[in-house]
Amino acid sequence: MTCPQCIGIQKLFDDATARRELRRWQRRGPPKSTALLLQGLDEALAPDGGTSGLTFLDIGGGIGAIQHALMDRGAAGGTHVDASPAYLQVSRGEAEARGYAHLIRYVEGDFVELAPTLTAADIVTLDRVVCCYPDMPALLDAAASRATSVLGLVFPRDHILNRLGVRAINLVQALRRHPFRVYLHPPEAVHTRLEAQGFRRSSEARTLLWHAWVYRRARGGVEEQDRPATDPAPSPDAP
Ligand SMILES: C[S@@+](CC[C@H](N)C(=O)[O-])C[C@H]1O[C@@H](n2cnc3c(N)ncnc32)[C@H](O)[C@@H]1O
Repeated sequence: MTCPQCIGIQKLFDDATARRELRRWQRRGPPKSTALLLQGLDEALAPDGGTSGLTFLDIGGGIGAIQHALMDRGAAGGTHVDASPAYLQVSRGEAEARGYAHLIRYVEGDFVELAPTLTAADIVTLDRVVCCYPDMPALLDAAASRATSVLGLVFPRDHILNRLGVRAINLVQALRRHPFRVYLHPPEAVHTRLEAQGFRRSSEARTLLWHAWVYRRARGGVEEQDRPATDPAPSPDAP
């Protein structure tokens, strides 16, 4: 990866950060926003029998908190694609220790570029990834194209605290000449984009700083409530 943001990601999410986050997760479990996302996924999948046997695609999965939770729930395996080689290594190390690394494919690089080469999955997740990527529509379109059933994401709420926080972070990054930047994409635009890709929101939760939203792919591209009450009469030309 050569774009400034990609270089920034590799510098920021380095080996020391990955190991620190792994230790924190081992001590305290996932952060609240990730726990809410997992709860939303459980609720979305429950009517169809839960997570057991399903596949996942965890985009920017970091140390793998979501993957480990899904594997604990009986997922069949999946793919972790990440721009940070350090995160991939730590995520794989933990999966090896838990005995299921052979069921997960680890792919390094920019997901938007790699998406056409990746197998679609039942569950697609982007936990705190949208705020790392400048082109939100491209990222969400690519994620939606790989999601056959459910898509969940955690991304920053648009309020004064986050606006000031993002400005402050990006100012410090610019002064340090660090190429990584944070992006505050409008939540309504995120929602509109996923709806346009044929998804309907099944749950929305939030913490002080984050939205945790889960979407289900509308059956046949049309939700039950959007369907006509009766099938239209067949056209006279129909075979
Ligand atoms: C803030 S970290 C979040 C990690 C983890 N999901 C969590 O919530 O703890 C952002 C993650 O997204 C990854 N990332 C950002 N943009 C990406 C892209 N275009 N393709 C693949 N990974 C990306 C980074 O490498 C990093 O692992």
